[in-house]
Amino acid sequence: MTKLWGGRFQKETDHLVEDFHSSISFDQRLYQYDIKGSIAHARMLGRCGIITEEEAGAIVRGLEEVLAEIKAGQVEFSVEAEDIHMNVEQLLTAKIGDLGKKLHTARSRNDQVALDIRMYLKDEIDQVSGLLRQLQEALLDLAERHLGALMPGYTHLQRAQPVTLAHHLLAYCQMFGRDEGRLADCRRRADVMPLGAGALAGTTFPLDRQYVAEQLGFAAITQNSLDAVSDRDFAVEFTAAASLVMVHLSRFCEEIILWASAEFAFIELDDAFSTGSSMMPQKKNPDVAELIRGKSGRVFGNLQALLTMLKGLPLAYNKDMQEDKEALFDAVDTVKKCLLVFRPMLETMRVKEDNMQAAASKGFTNATDLADYLVRRGLPFREAHEVAGKLVFHCLQQKITLDQLSLDDYSKFSTLVEEGVYDAISLKRCVDARRVPGGPALEAVREAIAEARQRLAAS
Ligand code: ARG
Repeated sequence: MTKLWGGRFQKETDHLVEDFHSSISFDQRLYQYDIKGSIAHARMLGRCGIITEEEAGAIVRGLEEVLAEIKAGQVEFSVEAEDIHMNVEQLLTAKIGDLGKKLHTARSRNDQVALDIRMYLKDEIDQVSGLLRQLQEALLDLAERHLGALMPGYTHLQRAQPVTLAHHLLAYCQMFGRDEGRLADCRRRADVMPLGAGALAGTTFPLDRQYVAEQLGFAAITQNSLDAVSDRDFAVEFTAAASLVMVHLSRFCEEIILWASAEFAFIELDDAFSTGSSMMPQKKNPDVAELIRGKSGRVFGNLQALLTMLKGLPLAYNKDMQEDKEALFDAVDTVKKCLLVFRPMLETMRVKEDNMQAAASKGFTNATDLADYLVRRGLPFREAHEVAGKLVFHCLQQKITLDQLSLDDYSKFSTLVEEGVYDAISLKRCVDARRVPGGPALEAVREAIAEARQRLAAS
């Protein structure tokens, strides 16, 4: 087959090279964006008198037909045509004849591919953001269902202080909210139109770049032709933001896996979101959560691949950059798939509130509150900490909890302790006394839920 760039060449491309450098197997995913971009470019060429309006009209109609045929699955892409850009151009020329050869006036595949990826990424960001919002809403609903459910909060995976499941869930709501913000930020920088940069140095034709940007719904046009064709920051930024989404999902999954174990027994996953063992009949495994935890590695790997691919490249376009696509596509696919399956897994899990509360009542999670009680009665905190520590040690030896200790026993450690101590160290009180904004008290959590709902409604 003759190459669109074949004029300067005397020999055919080696078949190994043909296969090696072709990107059509993966960049065909961009076909809609490529064609929409070409339609906008052709209209602009017509409007600026670079081709006639009639020619532009015929090209646009041809491209629309190509688009419809690809959508209908009637097109077989060609490896020899290398990538989606030249495949589309060849399909167009096969359809409308020599006129199709005018489409690429004042354009290079270098600015074309930058355009396509930006358009693709903006759409995907909208989808990922939508999934993140749905997840946050699910977390808020779940938090409302478990507003008062006491559970141990941990540090070092050791029981630390009591919180509620609602408060714990809201922590994740914050993380996914930040993820949404990062994606919105990335989208702003992706929302810049590169066409007109040509191969690297712009073009001699009097283009109306603003008109192309408007047709395609871009907020701005790129400001430097070299940068426009060599910039893949947006791909890195997305993959970095997606990596953090995966970090958050993975940490949550780790907890779900722990909680589903008999050792914790805080939750039971729904049968529909668990799997069995081929050998052990009793098993019910949290495979979905494990897979999400495992898939986080792919996305981090994609980020690393993109950074490494870019770091040594001189300006402007280099073919290395073709490697951006599989990494980006895989990051997009993985984060979407994980978000999609995570939410219903979470929504259908059965929470064993009694077990959570029982765990919170062990492990001396109220020891800080005992120290705080002594502080309120006049003891400096460092001394109160010491006294409470001694009381904990005593209880450990007696195999009892702090609330099972008699006032008599308390008085051996501190004369400041009175009847009120039992109320001060009751779990419910421990939680509800933490009324600081952002704290676990019922009222603070209610406010946090209301604020999160407002934030979601406003954005
Ligand atoms: N398939 C190429 C890519 O994905 C398109 C740009 C190629 N440009 C070039 N001059 N070889 O990056």
